[in-house]
Amino acid sequence: MTKETSGPKLFRAVADLREFLLPWRREGKRIGFVPTMGALHEGHLSLVRASKAETDCTVVSIYVNPTQFGPTEDFARYPRNLERDMELLTREGVEAVFAPDDAEMYPPGYNTWVEVKGVSEPLEGECRPGHFRGVATVVLKLFNIVQPDVTYFGAKDYQQSLVVRQLIRDLNLPIELKVLPTVREPDGLAMSSRNSYLSPDARSRATVLWKSLQKAQELVAQGRRDPQVIQEAMRQIILSVPGTSIDYVALVNPETLTPVSSITGPTLAAVAVRLEGTRLIDNLLLQP
Ligand code: PAJ
Repeated sequence: MTKETSGPKLFRAVADLREFLLPWRREGKRIGFVPTMGALHEGHLSLVRASKAETDCTVVSIYVNPTQFGPTEDFARYPRNLERDMELLTREGVEAVFAPDDAEMYPPGYNTWVEVKGVSEPLEGECRPGHFRGVATVVLKLFNIVQPDVTYFGAKDYQQSLVVRQLIRDLNLPIELKVLPTVREPDGLAMSSRNSYLSPDARSRATVLWKSLQKAQELVAQGRRDPQVIQEAMRQIILSVPGTSIDYVALVNPETLTPVSSITGPTLAAVAVRLEGTRLIDNLLLQP
């Protein structure tokens, strides 16, 4: 079989993407949607492959959403490489890419914001005020633009997937949410567009997030049930690596993200660590 060579259709304007999708929808085809900020890696591509396998028409959005970055965060230096992303998506046989500019997404006078309460508040919500407001706003806009049947998110951003789940439920969106496992480098580091910020030396030290999560799993497997003891062991591992500081190390209920007092059921271990100016997150579902 010949490989797809023509590549996905690239859309900059909402109206043009809508026009492209109309006949697909009219013919009853299932539309799959993978929202991204680009700088694509195997984590993103795992979502794309699931959509390709399960739906008739896969739409990938590539948009570095300014409203989900805080004023001191990395919006300006976030990696952007549309040409390379298009090459990768050509290989996957994606039907359409939506890559709007800021004027298309937030034209002058834009003034509507989506706030998901509860699950957006702890962890990332505390460290990055306004982050999930920006995420929920852009995701709802993208959902309204694409009107997918199914959407694919990664467990790498576990809290984000809960925010999106709540958004879909609360606003009665007719969209099926699929959350797929975190794709990791061979040494365990969760793939992330932000890994490109790391110096080779910091890159090798960045495995400490995964090591701390594995330690948590190991302690639970040994029968430890006290979250304080496990969190302390994780902190020690992380802080033993030079150049690290901890935003949070948390053992929480995987539905509500509230702290657990004892590990009696599935528990989410979540970490956010700064390593030489780069902020990395990771998580693992612990099963006692
Ligand atoms: P981005 O960080 O580009 O991630 C896009 C999707 O890829 C998210 O669902 C994320 O969880 C998933 N992903 C990232 N790394 C992954 C990995 N190692 N394994 C599996 N999935 C992974 O998340 C965003 O963009 C934005 O917040 C967005 C939802 C696009 C809204 O702007």
